[in-house]
Formats: sequence, C-alpha cells, structure tokens
Amino acid sequence: MASLKEHIDLNNLPQHLAIIMDGNGRWAKKKGAMRIFGHRNAIQAVKDVTEGCAELGVKYLTLYAFSTENWTRPKAEVDGLMELLVNTIKGEIKTLMDNQVRLTTIGETSQLPQDCQNNLAWAMNQTKNNKGLTLVLALSYGGRREIINAVKQLAAEVKSGKVAPEEINEGVLENYLQTSGIPDPELLIRTSGEMRVSNFLLWQIAYTELFITPTLWPDFRKEHLYEAIWSYQQRERRFGKTSEQLNPVS
Ligand code: IPE
Ligand code: IPE
Ligand code: MG
Repeated sequence: MASLKEHIDLNNLPQHLAIIMDGNGRWAKKKGAMRIFGHRNAIQAVKDVTEGCAELGVKYLTLYAFSTENWTRPKAEVDGLMELLVNTIKGEIKTLMDNQVRLTTIGETSQLPQDCQNNLAWAMNQTKNNKGLTLVLALSYGGRREIINAVKQLAAEVKSGKVAPEEINEGVLENYLQTSGIPDPELLIRTSGEMRVSNFLLWQIAYTELFITPTLWPDFRKEHLYEAIWSYQQRERRFGKTSEQLNPVS
C-alpha cells in the first residue's frame, strides 16, 4: 500500500507537534485486559511517532503522558505508570542517542517518585547535546498550573521592581512558561476520539490546528502520524484574516 508519507510537503511541516495520547485503558478493556496492559502497549506508539517525527524533520514533539489530574487515579495504576516510565527511559536511551533525540520535560516533575526524577535527569543529561528532534514529555503537567506558576514568578519580578506592570505582554508572559523558547504547536493530535483538551498547553494552543482521531493510542503508528500531518497541510490557517487577504488575486 502506498504511504501517505509521499504526499507530505516537507517544506510545510509543523515545527512543533503535540499529542494527547489517550485511549490506553479502552484499548486494554476491548481485549479483556487490565488497564496497565494498555499503558504497556502504548510504548510502541511512542517509539513509532518519535521515530516518524525525527525522520520527517519535525523539530519538537510534546507528548502528554501524565496530567496533574491523573494523580487522582487508583494508586496501583499511578504506580504502574511511574514504573513504566522508568523502565522505558532506561530501555530507550540507546535509541534516543542513535536518533539524535534530545529529551526534556514540562510539568511539576518534582511530584514524581524519586527514581523517576533521577532517571529523567540522567536521560536529559545524556541527550542534552543531541541535535535532532526535541522530545518534550509532559509529566504531572497541567496548563492552568503552568500559567499560575508563570504569573507567580512574574508577580515576584514586579514586586522586586525588575518588571513594570505596563511592560507585561504576551512575549513577556511566555518567558515564564515552561515551554519558553519552544514555538507554539502548529498541530495537536488527540487519539481515542475525545473532543477536549484536558488541561494541555492551554496558552500555547491558542491558534493550533486540531486533529482528533478515533484510533486508540496503542494502535497509533507512523501512517496515522502522516495522515494527521497531511490533513494539517490541507488547511488554510487564517489567524483571523480572510481567505482573500491570504490569497490575493494578482
Ligand atoms: C491515556 O490513556 C494515558 C494516560 C492518561 C496516562 P487512558 O489511561 O486515559 O485511557 P482511557 O482514556 O481510559 O481509555
Ligand atoms: C489526558 O487524558 C491526559 C493524558 C493523555 C496524559 P485523560 O484520559 O486523563 O483525559 P480525560 O480525563 O478523559 O479528559
Ligand atoms: Mg483517557
């Protein structure tokens, strides 16, 4: 079967792709298995998409792996996810190095178990000089929490006289977000068909194109990635303008 990859315009790639990896539990349930079985089978999708993005030349891939709200799940599931995270980092470090992938995180990672934090710090240090794709793992991440933390830091700067209130604009606030230095995602994919953003990158997705697919995350492969990018490339991003302004008749 011909791959959609051939139809992708490499000059019009999203620089930053963000993904809400959803549907692991339902995938397992369909198979009559425990939810953690779905999480384990999600790793192949992560590998496929990371490799697919690196091969195409996408610069940033942000994966929503664990939200601030996910802490309210049953303890056994949370523990299972944390263990999976540690094992995956250890198991994938060679692939990350071979593919020149640089690993970073956003979210309140200080809330993660100590061995998770240690492994993440180790992997980030190992990969810090890699020049290819930047893989951003959103862990214990919440968009509102991120904005609150930015506002707190900014308020402290105002209090100490470093920043004047009238100087505050979008660019200034962005300096205090954890994604500072990373362009806003042009494309956001959500798997499993849910039509919501679940507290992900609230500030950054103001003008992001959305691609929601019924595919459950453990089934997501490169070909699904190509479909999403292809769909993105068919769209007209107007940013409030009219279509005629973007396509003047000469
Ligand atoms: C996404 O799959 C993984 C995490 C949120 C950690 P879910 O675990 O949410 O799977 P569903 O949505 O219950 O199917
Ligand atoms: C969003 O998925 C969080 C992650 C993918 C990590 P959820 O499954 O937690 O989202 P809701 O609660 O159904 O909105
Ligand atoms: Mg879910």
